[in-house]
Amino acid sequence: MKRVGLIGWRGMVGSVLMQRMREENDFADIDPVFFSTSQTGKPAPDVGKSDVPALKDAFDLDALKAMDVIVTCQGGDYTSKVYQPLRDAGWDGYWIDAASTLRMADHSIIVLDPVNRDVIDAGLRDGVKDFVGGNCTVSLMMLALGGLLEKDLIEWVSPMTYQAASGSGAQHMRELINQMGRIRDGAGELMDDPASAILDIDRQVIDTMRSEDFPSDQFGVPLAGSLIPWIDKPMESGQSKEEWKAQSETNKILGRSDQPIPIDGICVRVGAMRSHSQALTIKLKKDLPVSEIESILAEANDWVKVVPNEKEASMEELSPTRVTGTMSVPIGRIRKLAMGPEYISAFTVGDQLLWGAAEPLRRMLRILQD
Ligand code: HSE
Repeated sequence: MKRVGLIGWRGMVGSVLMQRMREENDFADIDPVFFSTSQTGKPAPDVGKSDVPALKDAFDLDALKAMDVIVTCQGGDYTSKVYQPLRDAGWDGYWIDAASTLRMADHSIIVLDPVNRDVIDAGLRDGVKDFVGGNCTVSLMMLALGGLLEKDLIEWVSPMTYQAASGSGAQHMRELINQMGRIRDGAGELMDDPASAILDIDRQVIDTMRSEDFPSDQFGVPLAGSLIPWIDKPMESGQSKEEWKAQSETNKILGRSDQPIPIDGICVRVGAMRSHSQALTIKLKKDLPVSEIESILAEANDWVKVVPNEKEASMEELSPTRVTGTMSVPIGRIRKLAMGPEYISAFTVGDQLLWGAAEPLRRMLRILQD
C-alpha cells in the first residue's frame, strides 16, 4: 500500500476531498499520513483505520520524504514553499496538488481523467511525477464538452461564466450570505407592509448596498443583488487570469498546446454559493444536427447529462440549486445560433468543489494504485 501524505485536508477543498475519499472507501487502499501546518502531534482524523499516526509537521521535509504520494489542498503558498526543496532533497514521489502554482509547468500534467486519461497514462509511462487539478471552470466545461473535444469537432469556444462565491474561498461564501441578510434586514419594515411601494423598497435596497458598512471586505464590492465581471489578476492581454486559463489549461489538459483550440470569454462572479455556470458559444468544425451533438455529448462520460432545450427542464436542471453537492454536470440550451449552422449555444453547470476541485485529485490517487 502506498504511504500517502495529506496536507490541507481541513480547508474547504480538502474537506470535500476527505468526504469523497470516505464515500468511495479510498482510505482502505492507502496508508494515510495526515500533515498539519499548525497542529503537529494532535490526533489524525478518523478515517476508519486504527494505525494512522498523529499529525505530522507539514514543513518537515524528512517526514514528507517518507511518503510515496503527497496530496495537497493547502494552497499555492505551501506549494511554493515546499515543493522545490522537497525535490531538491531527492524526493521522487508523486505530488498531487489542488493549487495552480505548478499547473502550467512543463513537468506537470493537469488531471481530469474522464477527459485526458490518455495524457495521464502517457505521462506516467514517461516518468511524470507531478499531477495538478485544473481550474474549476475549465474542468467543468471540459467534462460537459468531453464528447465534442474527444472527436475534435470544436473550432473555438467562447465561455461566459457565472461563477459562485466558493471559487474565492470560504470567507467569501460567508460574506455573500451576510450581504443577502443585510439587504433583507435593511428593507425589513417596508417588506413587512404589503402596501409599501416597490420603488421605495428598491431605493432602500440600493441604499443598503451602497452604504459604507455593507459587508464587502472579501469581495471589495457588493455581490448579493449585483455581480462582479472580473475574477483574479489582470493580464497584459486585457483578460483576467481566470479568462486566460480557459484556453491555456484546456489545451494543456488535452495535450495539444502546440495546436490550441481558441477559448476565450468573460468570467463573472455571481451570487451563487458553490456551483459555477457557463454559457457557451461554440463554433463547430462542421454542421451537425442537434440530435447528433446531443448524443455525442451524452455518451462521453458518466457524469455529463444532456438536458433537452425546453423551458421546464432548463429551469429545473440547469441550476446551481439542483447541481450543488452532486457529481452531475448537466449541459443544455443546445441549439443552433443565428450566425450559421456550425454555431451552437450551450449552458452547463457543475459543483465547483467536487468535479471542479476535489474529485480529479482523488481519482488521480486511484490511478496511481492501478
Ligand atoms: N478560480 C476559480 C474561481 C476557483 O475563482 O471561481 C478555483 O478554480
